[in-house]
Amino acid sequence: MKKRTILPGLMMATLTTLLIACGGGGSAPAGPPSAGGAPPTSAGGTGKNTSGLLTAADIALGDIDQAKAEKGRSTYDVKCQACHSTGANRVVGPGWKGITERRQPEWIMNMILNIDVMLETDPEAQKGLEECLVRMPNQGLSKEEGREVLEYMRTL
Ligand code: HEC
Repeated sequence: MKKRTILPGLMMATLTTLLIACGGGGSAPAGPPSAGGAPPTSAGGTGKNTSGLLTAADIALGDIDQAKAEKGRSTYDVKCQACHSTGANRVVGPGWKGITERRQPEWIMNMILNIDVMLETDPEAQKGLEECLVRMPNQGLSKEEGREVLEYMRTL
């Protein structure tokens, strides 16, 4: 019978190397700057997340529902028109023409329903603020009203 000694020393060496590497010290790592950056904002995975933002799974788009779009248009007239055109031109905020081709539906809904969280966490929303220099105000729409406006946007 032969006795073989595996080499635990090799494992130890590997571990030690890893530990030293992680311990760092000396020069800053030249890696991507994301280390220590902001954590992802959505606590995702469960569908309901703590930030309250909607995900793609929350929004089903079928054929355009004209009745819904019509209600969305009324809401637009009352609550959005002061700042948004339905054309391509900016008024206070960006024009809505073609918006559903530029933006994901859940992103649009989150801008309508959760603007504060979006301005805190979403780079695109922050870019919009930089360009327009005005915070989009929360218009207090219900989820259903927001969905109707989204439907209206799809007709533009
Ligand atoms: C007081 C002016 C104002 C009102 C009223 C307003 N918005 Fe806005 N909106 C803005 C500004 C300014 C932005 C750009 C800010 C940003 O992206 O952070 C914006 C951005 C948006 C965006 C993102 C557009 C894009 O392409 O980036 C959506 C969607 C939107 N608004 C929807 C609405 C809806 C729906 C209403 C009405 C219920 C509404 N807004 C009312 C000022 C307004």
